[in-house]
Amino acid sequence: MSLESFTNGFQSNDDRLKEVKAFDATKMGVKGLIDSGVKCIPKIFIRPLDELSEDSKTPCVKLQVPTINLEGIDRKDRYNEIVKEVLDASETWGFFQVVNHGISVELLDEMLQRVRMFHEQNTEVKKEFYTRETLKQVVYNSNYDLYTSRSANWKDTLVVNAYYGHLDPKELPEICRDVMLDYTNHVMKLSDILLELLSVALGLGPDHLREMEFKKGWSLVNHYYPACPAPDLTLGASKHSDSAFLTILLQDQIGGLQVLHENQWVNVQPKPAAFVVNIGDILQMVSNNKLRSVHHRVIANLIGPRISVAFFLRGVLSSEKLYGPIKELLSKESPPVYREFTLSDFYSYFFSRPLNESGFEYFKV
Ligand code: OGA
Ligand code: NI
Repeated sequence: MSLESFTNGFQSNDDRLKEVKAFDATKMGVKGLIDSGVKCIPKIFIRPLDELSEDSKTPCVKLQVPTINLEGIDRKDRYNEIVKEVLDASETWGFFQVVNHGISVELLDEMLQRVRMFHEQNTEVKKEFYTRETLKQVVYNSNYDLYTSRSANWKDTLVVNAYYGHLDPKELPEICRDVMLDYTNHVMKLSDILLELLSVALGLGPDHLREMEFKKGWSLVNHYYPACPAPDLTLGASKHSDSAFLTILLQDQIGGLQVLHENQWVNVQPKPAAFVVNIGDILQMVSNNKLRSVHHRVIANLIGPRISVAFFLRGVLSSEKLYGPIKELLSKESPPVYREFTLSDFYSYFFSRPLNESGFEYFKV
């Protein structure tokens, strides 16, 4: 069937809202749609024609985001090389993979496995966690922006929010509770190493970024991308940049994550036991544009499910502390690009902004 015959069927806003509401009310997510025997993708998931045709003009090229091997980081010569690699990757790509980070492959596999088990449990059990109240500690739903996006993404998500840095383990779904606690402890330690490397890379003292208290608030975002019968018509995750400070992502071996690099989509090839690290909007702002928060997306796939786990360092959402370009990075040649802001300003703007506007342009001086 041609693309046009799929997408020309006119859907009014009212019809769309009705369908979106009906889908939301099932609390079954995309996984539930598939299980109920749906063979074509419902209209609410189909991308608008202008987006689809724009996409056909954006080439997908065979490049690779840099991979950084942390082995030997304790040796001075290797440490300095790693710092250079981190700087280069963060300036040019905004993305890199890390290997030999010291976290066991068993823990990574167990994490992916348990996230999969959460999403594959009986709907009745999952429904208890289904909510659109994003301030809760545990938020399970499909498409956090279901009511505002132009088209829905082919994925479901379980979010665990530690807005003030701590979690009440009792609230976590039992099926993935233990591994999530273990996993976040390890990823937090890795984030300390990354923050140190980024600080030194920027020419700051090794503790500078760590002392900015971004670790005090974080979210663990556990995605489930079911196999999709029409992967060319929808996306697993629409193009976006991360509103956080830093993202540390674990993905399984299926693939689908793409980074926009020099106006071309580049696949982030899954690597065993690797993390994908990317610079978020806030780090771009405090680094005064030295490091880049880059657009990325996830394509849908005939094969699935694909599991990924994104750990976002966000800082305390309600913090009144002022953030802005780091003074040490400013000079006559490099005046501040952004004004000062609080995280509460940033996130309230971020969650209310028109979706096609990037999270940080608004804070330019
Ligand atoms: C995200 C994201 C990518 C992935 O959660 O912000 O970009 O591979 N995820 O799931
Ligand atoms: Ni992202």
